[in-house]
Amino acid sequence: MLAGKRILLIIGGGIAAYKALDLIRRLRERGAGVVPVLTRAAQEFVTPLSASALAAEKVYTDLFDLTDEAEMGHIELSRAADLVVVAPATADLMAKMAGGHADDLASTLLMATDKRVLVAPAMNVRMWEHPATQRNAAVLKGDGVLFAGPVDGAMACGEFGPGRMAEVPEIVAAVETALADGPLRGRRIVVTSGPTHEPIDPVRYIANRSSGAQGAAIARALAGLGAEVVFVTGPASVPPPAGVTPVKVETAREMLAAVEAALPADGAVFAAAVADWRVADASGRKIKKDGSGKVPGLAMVENPDILASVAQRTDGRPHLVVGFAAETDDVVANATAKRARKGCDWIVANDVSPGTGIMGGTENAVTLVTEAGAESWPRMAKDQVAMQLARRIADALGGA
Ligand code: C5P
Repeated sequence: MLAGKRILLIIGGGIAAYKALDLIRRLRERGAGVVPVLTRAAQEFVTPLSASALAAEKVYTDLFDLTDEAEMGHIELSRAADLVVVAPATADLMAKMAGGHADDLASTLLMATDKRVLVAPAMNVRMWEHPATQRNAAVLKGDGVLFAGPVDGAMACGEFGPGRMAEVPEIVAAVETALADGPLRGRRIVVTSGPTHEPIDPVRYIANRSSGAQGAAIARALAGLGAEVVFVTGPASVPPPAGVTPVKVETAREMLAAVEAALPADGAVFAAAVADWRVADASGRKIKKDGSGKVPGLAMVENPDILASVAQRTDGRPHLVVGFAAETDDVVANATAKRARKGCDWIVANDVSPGTGIMGGTENAVTLVTEAGAESWPRMAKDQVAMQLARRIADALGGA
């Protein structure tokens, strides 16, 4: 799968650094060559000798190692690879990357590279949740850096929560996706997915039953064909696939802002089940029963239509804009009308009437509505629908 690929693996200084050694083995098993770079802090956790022995390559540690500079300068080192992987990506390394620092070998390589960068963050839960780290993660995602994890779990420090490094197989899967050669290499595609949550007060919200399964499958299929995918997801029950740039949002307005921030893009697929309305004035405090038996009246306002606003842009409209239509009757007629009303190129329509088991299920039966007319696909697994749609998108967009 990774035969002949070269990976520059930057190992940051965290307790998860020991897993980077296993990562080297797993990548090599798949045929990749791995050149390890250890930060100074990383060398407190693993030795250059172990990394070198497992990689069967020279290990780089110091920017000012003149021999190395004579052999291979940092610019060349950063570009000889097909992909740069940072695992574990510590809070400090992420901050350096977001700020554009170049004060040691690792940060200089990350500044100098012209290749894609995949990070596997690993840090204490509070450090991950700190606004500075979240800001830095958002900057990196905006720069097109790919993320694998972090995931929830027990930490070496005894705490529990997000911040734990993704397991090695997940990082390997993300590497494989990032290096996938395919007709969409060089194409950037934004995918929305999942439901949105619209707050009523700090503890309650309006939601819907979307699992995010179809959107995640589409993002995975597009990435598998080589696309750079920005995956803007509401609070879905399925996790973002490996090898995409996930952007997590809660509300429709946040989703719109995240999509706009992800543009320009060659294509956009709007698979999210966006709430049509939100509460006009969400309360800043929990709404309480007052004992009178009166129920609160919730004034609602309409949410922005993300698909329509992107499809109707005069400036920077993606070349191909694909919307979804969940219909319970007159599927083709309603989807055709929706395509015209929203101004998108294609509508993927599905029949979600009760009894089909489609909403929240594993299968889908879709009709693709394009300028050329309506085309019904047989009922198949959501993964297969995603693959078929991704191939059609590849035909429409072609390679870079
Ligand atoms: O109008 P309707 O909700 O049926 O349209 C469905 C399509 O529009 C889907 O592609 C959905 O992701 C998108 N949509 C959106 N923003 C909204 C409502 C729907 O992007 N506020």
